[in-house]
Amino acid sequence: QPGADQWVPPHAAVDDLRRAAEDCRGCELWRDATQVVFSRGPAGAAIMLVGEQPGDREDLEGEPFIGPAGQILVEAITAADLAEDDVYMTNAVKHFRFERRGKRRIHDKPAVGHIVACHPWLEAEVAAVTPEVLVALGATAARSVLGRTVKIGEVRGRVLEPPAGFASPVVVTAHPSSILRVRDSADRESAFNALVEDLRLAADLIA
Ligand code: URA
Ligand code: SF4
Repeated sequence: QPGADQWVPPHAAVDDLRRAAEDCRGCELWRDATQVVFSRGPAGAAIMLVGEQPGDREDLEGEPFIGPAGQILVEAITAADLAEDDVYMTNAVKHFRFERRGKRRIHDKPAVGHIVACHPWLEAEVAAVTPEVLVALGATAARSVLGRTVKIGEVRGRVLEPPAGFASPVVVTAHPSSILRVRDSADRESAFNALVEDLRLAADLIA
């Protein structure tokens, strides 16, 4: 796996990165995906949210966080008294990884090799956006941002030191799709509230 490096233009603004990412062949995920899904939100945002990878809807429409998990995330952003314009949203991996079952496409989580291959895009985004805080949504995002594997339950709800190569502190929280999987409605509500609390923690760090 060559990784994305050779496709990432140096010192580029977000719009140039987005355009360049269409040509990325840094891992094999581009082959089966419909298109690259880059980011959403203002390049001047103080908070950068990092998700896992685009889902089925995102892959078809080319926009991150527009499916069910994205809806939960936007609700949580609002509940944390943030505006959508306060956040730049992106993913650790920019192409949808899935398994075909008949006509259905089933989400398949990215392997560490995909996370590593796609990391140069995230680095370039952080350099372009210079967020005051990075929020990693779930284990894949945390792996990419921190460069090591962590358990969400062990690191969430704290402000972590800037990892190697980044200048911003990090807050790790659960992925919004994990909330969708909670069956019991009271448990789902507390999972949602925990996400909101973590977003507030990040919001408190911005000037
Ligand atoms: N949609 C995204 O764009 N990213 C995720 O991590 C999940 C859903
Ligand atoms: Fe490039 Fe990332 Fe897509 Fe792989 S997933 S082809 S590294 S943009």
